[in-house]
Amino acid sequence: MLSLLVLALPLLLSLGHAAPAPNQDLERVGIVGGQEAPESKWLWQVSLRAKHHYWMHFCGGSLIHPQWVLTAAHCLGPHITDPADLRVQLREQHLYYRDKLLRVNRVIVHPKYYVVQEGFDIALMELEDPVNIACNVQLVTLPPASETFPPGTLCWVTGWGDVNNGVSLPPPFPLKEVKVPIVENSKCDSEYHTGLSTGDNVRIVKDNVICAGDEESDSCQGDSGGPLVCKVNGTWMQAGVVSWGEGCAQPNRPGIYTRVTYYLDWIHQYVPEEP
Ligand code: ARG
Repeated sequence: MLSLLVLALPLLLSLGHAAPAPNQDLERVGIVGGQEAPESKWLWQVSLRAKHHYWMHFCGGSLIHPQWVLTAAHCLGPHITDPADLRVQLREQHLYYRDKLLRVNRVIVHPKYYVVQEGFDIALMELEDPVNIACNVQLVTLPPASETFPPGTLCWVTGWGDVNNGVSLPPPFPLKEVKVPIVENSKCDSEYHTGLSTGDNVRIVKDNVICAGDEESDSCQGDSGGPLVCKVNGTWMQAGVVSWGEGCAQPNRPGIYTRVTYYLDWIHQYVPEEP
């Protein structure tokens, strides 16, 4: 019994650790605040895996077409990641418990991406085979280009990332959800200037992102690449991709998400409009 524990302990400890991305050390995100997601919700959520001692979660993503996953560029680039070193796990309630890993054909990182602060933190992964859309796997809708997601829109972010600064999600690693308030871009930019000597004329928060979250509710390390979704006229639409933030749930530091409407033309260069 004791020897079993000794054998299992390193695995249990390493499961919760920050996962280095295939090509760079990267912060993982989780969800701060919120709760375990109901099994019937967020059926487009996926987990990106890289080979370590096991296929370790390193980022989130979302299913936008039966053969395409949307994620963050910083999860995969800027250097090309070999698709052979990646797997995708579709929505599961507890990470690692019922894994059926899918192979990836192609990784496409936005060509203008180099650091998260400059935006363009968006990437696509083409799956080897299209997946069956079923009662436990659904696609998320992309918003029309005109959708701004004003403050007051009902939005949620989901993931298996850290539950607080430096605190990873404990076993059995349930998918978490949290409702996050949208923070208008100019307000988010002025919040990010508080406590800094950076001049107000220097933009920290650009137009190609959307901000959400507060001191109770945020995404965190390990949630990156996952979806920020908002309900508009009864439909859940993906407003953002988890990108960056200064810490998690810190005062005056909302979470920063890639603004999906900004990249619709780029996405549709690769992803067919009709599945
Ligand atoms: N960069 C993080 C990651 O790679 C995501 C951080 C999100 N931070 C936030 N405060 N919302 O996992």
